[in-house]
Amino acid sequence: MLSENTIKIVKSTAPVLAERGVEITSYFYKTMFEAHPELLNIFNHANQKQGRQQTALANTVYAAATYIDQLEVLLPAVKQIAHKHRSLNVKKEHYPIVGEFLLKAIKDVLGDAATPEVLQAWGEAYQVIAQVFIDIENEMYEEANTNKWEGFKAFKVMKKVDESSLITSFYLQATDGSDVPAFQPGQYVTVRLTVSGEEYLLNRQYSLSDAPGKNYLRISVKREGAEPSTLGKVSNYLHDHVNEGEEIELTAPAGDFVLNEVTESPLYLISGGVGITPMMSMLKRVADKQADRVVTFIHAAKNSEVQAFHQEITETINLLPNARKYNVYENPTASDREKKTFDLEGYVDYQKLQEIVKDKEADFYVCGPVPFMKNVIDGLETLGVKAENIHFEFFGPSINLKEY
Ligand code: HEM
Repeated sequence: MLSENTIKIVKSTAPVLAERGVEITSYFYKTMFEAHPELLNIFNHANQKQGRQQTALANTVYAAATYIDQLEVLLPAVKQIAHKHRSLNVKKEHYPIVGEFLLKAIKDVLGDAATPEVLQAWGEAYQVIAQVFIDIENEMYEEANTNKWEGFKAFKVMKKVDESSLITSFYLQATDGSDVPAFQPGQYVTVRLTVSGEEYLLNRQYSLSDAPGKNYLRISVKREGAEPSTLGKVSNYLHDHVNEGEEIELTAPAGDFVLNEVTESPLYLISGGVGITPMMSMLKRVADKQADRVVTFIHAAKNSEVQAFHQEITETINLLPNARKYNVYENPTASDREKKTFDLEGYVDYQKLQEIVKDKEADFYVCGPVPFMKNVIDGLETLGVKAENIHFEFFGPSINLKEY
């Protein structure tokens, strides 16, 4: 239990920390990695370079400080982060390390403003916040352990299939012959790779792109720009160097961007680019388990050359008597026009949604690049869809859409 005084100090200094939040977290990561380079085997170096992780951590610390006396308000956000932590094998013994360097960063960046009293209060608050994460993650590890899949496990690539000029699917089975556990459509796995020439292990999350209940897990990976950079390092390595018969490591499926199967409410699955992957899992699950459900599948792509799963979507939609689909192409080719491979042209925005959306009480699932998400979510809100009916997932660390 934190004392009244500690709560008062933390709350009153939170805005100061927020103002210098990115500075503090950038300094925090730098000093922590200098002292504990082994942690670079866990963290995503691309997110670090772009400053996205620093912003995500600073936002969370600020939110936690603001709600330090009613942390239950933050539980949904904590759970989402805990899923990511569990999928990266973050353990309770890591928390004191993060605590030590976070406090040191506050002290060094704020200088005289960080009085011993302020540091003492933040140290106590960190313990409380960390314990909330540790407890939730502990439950998640126990569940993974029940499925005999607590950490990383080797998987063999059984099949590698080109879905478009940019997206390739990998069909994966456990090397030790163990069964694929149940997962919820929309969940992701962390892939860990040893890449020659790289000092540290590389981890990335990929959504599972097929329904649960198969004897394999499928991920579908987009190739990124040709320029060598930290962006796309893992994805391009998978494309270029991981072939059928080879092994990669995975953690058990995680994530709370999942299809609600308790209800039969009408469903809108809206994706842009490779954001189609969790939607494929959801669509195929509906075909397996809720074939009468009313489904609208909206997918935005540049054109048919880069659109993945064209045929698989058509085949799945054909199994669903109450489903319809819209291919929205930003820049259709001459052949697209000739063969009518798309339904609408342009972006998925308010105007398009106004044409398509028939039921504002439905559940909407949205996944894609940030500008796409912003267009779609703003459009849905303008149409009058309630925020609680809009479910979405970003690529990379969560970003506050409104501030983006
Ligand atoms: C991701 C907060 C402790 C390692 C994140 C994210 C947040 C966050 C907000 C972004 C989630 C997302 O991607 O949506 C926190 C807070 C902590 C804490 C508030 C303490 C109370 C730790 C610890 C470790 C850790 C102890 C392990 C050393 C990671 C990693 C990611 C992550 C590896 C994935 C992001 C990436 O690789 O770029 N955390 N975290 N975190 N966290 Fe933590």
